[in-house]
Amino acid sequence: MGDMRTQLSFLNLTEIETEVLAVPAADTQTSKDRDAKAQPVLLIADEAVKAAAAALLSSGEYKAGANETVLLHAPAGLKAKRLLIVGLGKQAKATVNGVRNAAGTAVRYGKPRGIRELVFALPECEFLPAGPSARAAVEGAFVGDFDPDTYRSDRKDQSVELFTVAAPAASGKTAVEAAYAEGVIVGESQNFTRELVNEPGNKLTPTILGQRAALMASEVGLGWEVHSTEKLKELKMGAFWSVSQGSEEPPALIVLRYEPEGVTVDPGAPVLGLVGKGITFDSGGISLKPGDNMEKMEYDMAGGAAMLGAMRAIALLKPRVRVIGVVCAAENMPDGKAQKPGDVQTAMSGKTIEIINTDAEGRLVLADGLTYAKQLGATHLIDAATLTGACVVALGMINAGAFANDDAIYAKYDTALATSGEKFWRLPLGEEYADLIKSEIGDIKNTGGRWGGASTAAEFLKVFAEDTPWIHLDIAGLAWVEDSKPYIAKGPSGIGVRSILEWVRSY
Ligand code: BES
Ligand code: MN
Ligand code: ZN
Repeated sequence: MGDMRTQLSFLNLTEIETEVLAVPAADTQTSKDRDAKAQPVLLIADEAVKAAAAALLSSGEYKAGANETVLLHAPAGLKAKRLLIVGLGKQAKATVNGVRNAAGTAVRYGKPRGIRELVFALPECEFLPAGPSARAAVEGAFVGDFDPDTYRSDRKDQSVELFTVAAPAASGKTAVEAAYAEGVIVGESQNFTRELVNEPGNKLTPTILGQRAALMASEVGLGWEVHSTEKLKELKMGAFWSVSQGSEEPPALIVLRYEPEGVTVDPGAPVLGLVGKGITFDSGGISLKPGDNMEKMEYDMAGGAAMLGAMRAIALLKPRVRVIGVVCAAENMPDGKAQKPGDVQTAMSGKTIEIINTDAEGRLVLADGLTYAKQLGATHLIDAATLTGACVVALGMINAGAFANDDAIYAKYDTALATSGEKFWRLPLGEEYADLIKSEIGDIKNTGGRWGGASTAAEFLKVFAEDTPWIHLDIAGLAWVEDSKPYIAKGPSGIGVRSILEWVRSY
């Protein structure tokens, strides 16, 4: 993991000695006219800082657009060596998530310029409260600090060494401190996930993913077990096993357990089951994928990695609810022993599955993962998977897909989305989709034809969630950032970690 240290300060901005003081700005122009002149203002109260930026802000050169930056050297009247102004866009639309991105932008501005230390001033305005902003800022700093160039020989250690969140002295100190501390845990956990997703298929086999999960679990005090072939056979996980049978690499069934300490959990209390797709490489199997872009299928374990990152944060933030994490890790390969289209597999639940396309492997491993989480006592389920290209076609790389068999569980997740700043869009399930995966040979088939692929995949999983309240997250389009943004590098995004964590904490 990157070794950025962070701290929280309540010092006066004028007094802060730093390489870079980053301050948020917003555009107060309210006219609907797109060509109306921007009216940028700093969202802080400090008069000396405002004076240092005054000429620039009135010049019209800087509009305070979202993540738009401008740098001033030797700002008059400040102890900071440089003043970096980071835009939040229109003030009327500014959000805590915008603060998260602005902090990431500040870090990513500094990194390639050799800046090792910077201070990010929280906005001082009522609609961006200090606590949530402090949390978001430190999360955003960790997100921004991550670069996926682990395997480059000329990798420069450009990690920011010290990131300071400067909170207004007037803000409720203990609440801000607590929120900031949460943000550190969440940001580090999201990067833990991103590091796993970044590993190529040869360096992160199912076995190695199991080892990494076990190491993390031991470090943060989670219970853990990692099983392989024998246990899959013992549990009769015919769907999960059918995917791994075509690879020399044995599968890994990773189980993590979180038990709240020092609180009596009533026996009828919910037990949350987090189930992740951990395909460490998806070649498609006998239904082999085309060569173009096949290398990207090393991130097909992003759902599983999101669950591991969420479990890490859960262990450290200690919510009052029991949580079980199940990651089904396998490699999908076209070996001589690989499963074939037309094969029929019997899942752990007893349902029989006609294999139409061996590339629809994620739903197979998840089917048994969901059944197993229920057998371990889960009363509420959530799964995450890079499941379908169809979901990417539907929503682009803007929103990830979400499905639920129960409105109450989804309502809780929707609230979690607001806190986390992650973008998911609920897509439909329904009888007509279920009809498309009925099989004449067995109970269901593993693909439902070309149209509505995200929904038919979700219907497949629903067969295994049964009546248990369940959420399914299809993160195929967002697990990997295709183009660098000012606040996040191209590469693994860590999507899911924050919203799943917040959902867990709502119980
Ligand atoms: N891992 C892929 C889905 C995927 C596609 C993830 C693009 C990330 C980016 C999944 O296992 C898959 O191959 N799905 C097939 C299903 C089809 C055969 C029904 C797909 O989406 O094409
Ligand atoms: Mn596939
Ligand atoms: Zn896949």
